Order: sequence, then C-alpha cells, then structure tokens
Amino acid sequence: MNLTTHYLGLELPHPFILGASPLASNLDRVRKAEDAGAAAITLHSLFEEQGLRQEAGLDAHVHAYEESFAEAGSYFPKEAEFHLGPDEYLAHVSAAKKAVNVPIIASLNGTHLGGWSYFAKEIEKAGADALELNLYYQPRVSDETADNVETRLEEIVKSVCESVKMPVSVKLSPFFTSLAHFARRLEEAGAKGLVLFNRFYQPDIDIEDLELKPKLKLSNSSELLLRLRWLAVLSGRYQLDLACTGGVHKRDDAIKAVMCGADVVQVVSELLTDGVERLSDLRCEMSRWMEDKEYESLAQMKGSMSYRHAPNPEVIERGNYMRILQSWEPADSID
Ligand SMILES: Cc1cc2nc3c(=O)[nH]c(=O)nc-3n(C[C@H](O)[C@H](O)[C@H](O)COP(=O)(O)O)c2cc1C
Repeated sequence: MNLTTHYLGLELPHPFILGASPLASNLDRVRKAEDAGAAAITLHSLFEEQGLRQEAGLDAHVHAYEESFAEAGSYFPKEAEFHLGPDEYLAHVSAAKKAVNVPIIASLNGTHLGGWSYFAKEIEKAGADALELNLYYQPRVSDETADNVETRLEEIVKSVCESVKMPVSVKLSPFFTSLAHFARRLEEAGAKGLVLFNRFYQPDIDIEDLELKPKLKLSNSSELLLRLRWLAVLSGRYQLDLACTGGVHKRDDAIKAVMCGADVVQVVSELLTDGVERLSDLRCEMSRWMEDKEYESLAQMKGSMSYRHAPNPEVIERGNYMRILQSWEPADSID
C-alpha cells in the first residue's frame, strides 16, 4: 500500500510521526523511535522561559512574574527540571540528526516575541529539518482583545519564518474566535503547516492546602473528535499542511484523521502507555484496512471526509448538531 505523504516539504513513507514529548529526549529514545518506524520525530520543546533566560537582556519574562507576586517563580519548573537547557537542546538536535535517517522536527514553545528568531536560527544551524512552534497561550486579561492575541501570535510566527529557511509549523489551541481566518493569517505570516491541537493541562485544586495540583493525564480517543472537525474544516482551504495531534490511539483514529485531511498524525499518549513499537502496529493495521477497502494510496483517502466536498457545510453542521441532541434516549429514571 502506498502510504506516502508530504508534510512541511518532507516526503514521508507514511503518516505516523512521533509528537513532541520525552519520547525523543535522549539519543537512545530517538534511535528507538526510528527503529519503531516513526516517519519523522518531533523533539520535545525548548520553552521560551528557558531560551529567554539565556539571551542577555531578555531575562525579564520570569522575573516580571516574580516581581509581581512573591511565589510566582515557584510555578515555573526549575532549570534542572527541564529535559535539556538551550545549549543542550541545540546539541541534541544536532546529535539526533546525525543518529537517525528520519527527519527531525524541533519544537519551540512560548507566547511572547523575544528570543524566538535567534533560537530558530540556531536550531536550523543544528540541522533540524523543520520547526514546530507551539503557541500555548490562554488569554485571561479583559483588556486583551481577540485581535491583540492573534496579532501578537502572528508576529511571532512571521519573525521566526523570516529568520529561517526550514519549514515552520504552528501548534495551536482550538480556542480562537475564528480559527479558519487565523489560519489564513498564519499562512500569510509564512507558516507551512498547522498542528491541531494543543491539549490544555488544567491543574486540579487541592482544597485542603489551597494549592494547584499540576498532574498530567494522558489523552484518549474521545479527544480526537474536536481535531477531526477542524481538520475537515481547514483541509484543502489553504496551502498549509495539517498534522493531527491529540487522541490518536487506534488504527481507526488515524484513518479518520487522514480522511478529514491530516497529512500526518502525531502520536504520544498511546506510545507512552504501550511503547513506541505501537507506531509500526498502527501503520500495518492502517495499511491492511486500506487494502481490504481497495484503496490504492493514502493520497486517495486523504481529505475524503473534508468539508471541501460538502455542498453546504453550515447546513450540515447545524443539522448534525440538532440530530445529535434529538438522538439522546432518556433513561426511565428521569421521569
Ligand atoms: C509527557 C508529555 C510531554 C509533552 N511535551 C510536549 C512538548 O515538550 N512540547 C509540545 O509541543 N507538546 C508536548 N506534549 C504534547 C504532545 O506533543 C501531544 O500534542 C499531546 O500529548 C496530544 O497527543 P496524544 O493524544 O497523542 O498524547 C507532551 C505530552 C506529554 C504527554
């Protein structure tokens, strides 16, 4: 089965790639991911707060929080808690690139214009094939308009894209007032792809000690539905390549993502739980299913469930919404 796909200018033998995570945070893991058949490897992120600390004069971000209230610094991980500092990160990109033959996608994570372009250039020099920019941001203040947020994020993307030749993708949250419009702004700013979507890791609350309890829960397949909807909306609309991240655990999850228009699917939680070897199972299972269904290639299946084939997407969405609500069968206990 021809599972070839294209993502960020890279020709990949199949759509299964490693998402940003500790699964590639050292060279043994990077090699293991290649052995498990990852079509590309996304490295974990270098965080703005780490990078900015390094660059002279740009140490302000964390300290600004620290000055505003005493315990603020304690919310940030200490230097030693990050997998790698900025210099080690660049060395890791370079070593990973030499260690394996699959493309290496580096990741920068942050929300303020600052040292991004500098680090993007260094990452490119270190040999990364592409860069994923994770714009993890949750607006809270009332005087920041939706347009302010989008303009700031767009400026970051533009400044990075202008400073490097390697392709840049943007990992987004689903929470934009008009995501399709913002996607267009990102494309105009130079992005070559979108990664849909960031998961938000809202901390729980310890009611005894009045403390936040940051605890990471891995995803499950139900999270995929939000991604499917937006893949279907955005697919074919722009030149942007699309990666699905969040909720890909089973063969059918990946098939649905591709049908909705994903060029690649990133997998993390499933591999953290059942081992990175699951990647090749997923690929084989997808391939077998496609053979049974007499597909000739991934390209033939890609985007087949995208909205671009729908004559009137708005009516379909509205109709589905009403049908879903009406389809609920109340249990006897509510009467
Ligand atoms: C332990 C862990 C670490 C992660 N680290 C990063 C990271 O450094 N940068 C990033 O953009 N996403 C990171 N992610 C998010 C994943 O890349 C991915 O988007 C998310 O887990 C959803 O995919 P999944 O459902 O396959 O897990 C991390 C996720 C996990 C579980």
